Amino acid sequence: MPISKAMADAINVQIGNEFAAHFQYLQIATYFHEDGLPQMGAFFDHQASEEHDHAMRLLHYLRDTGAKVAIPKIAAPKATYRSAKEAVSLALKQEEDVTAQIDGLANLAIDERDHATRAMLDWFVTEQVEELDTMGELLQIVARAGEANMLLVEEHVRRKAAAEFGTAE
Ligand SMILES: [Fe+2]
Ligand SMILES: [Fe+2]
Repeated sequence: MPISKAMADAINVQIGNEFAAHFQYLQIATYFHEDGLPQMGAFFDHQASEEHDHAMRLLHYLRDTGAKVAIPKIAAPKATYRSAKEAVSLALKQEEDVTAQIDGLANLAIDERDHATRAMLDWFVTEQVEELDTMGELLQIVARAGEANMLLVEEHVRRKAAAEFGTAE
């Protein structure tokens, strides 16, 4: 069953939001790589690739339902940060915004009794719980360590990545 024009339009907007998140994370990753914090840089590179996957997941859904794909204009990311804490705060704010956007899409799917889209969005609802938890925890650790102790945060991020991806060396 094809989805409504309103639903397709809203999903296209979200494709733009996910690509905007992708670019924002690439920009934050670059800040950390250039600031001598390669583990933080790698963490945000990985986040960036996840956001790209989210955009593609939505795009493929539009294709599967025969809806029109129309990728919107993507706003430029914020490119300068005064501190690690500011960069991670921006990341958390972005995840909070995306969570609200996903909830809005889910509300629309429910209003339209569009069960296919609602079921597709379940994955995103669950993903956002994890994203908020991950970014909230990182901000807490960065705030606790302080700018002078970011190498301790590097070690934390390295250990966590090793546990998650088996990339210990
Ligand atoms: Fe996302
Ligand atoms: Fe995310």
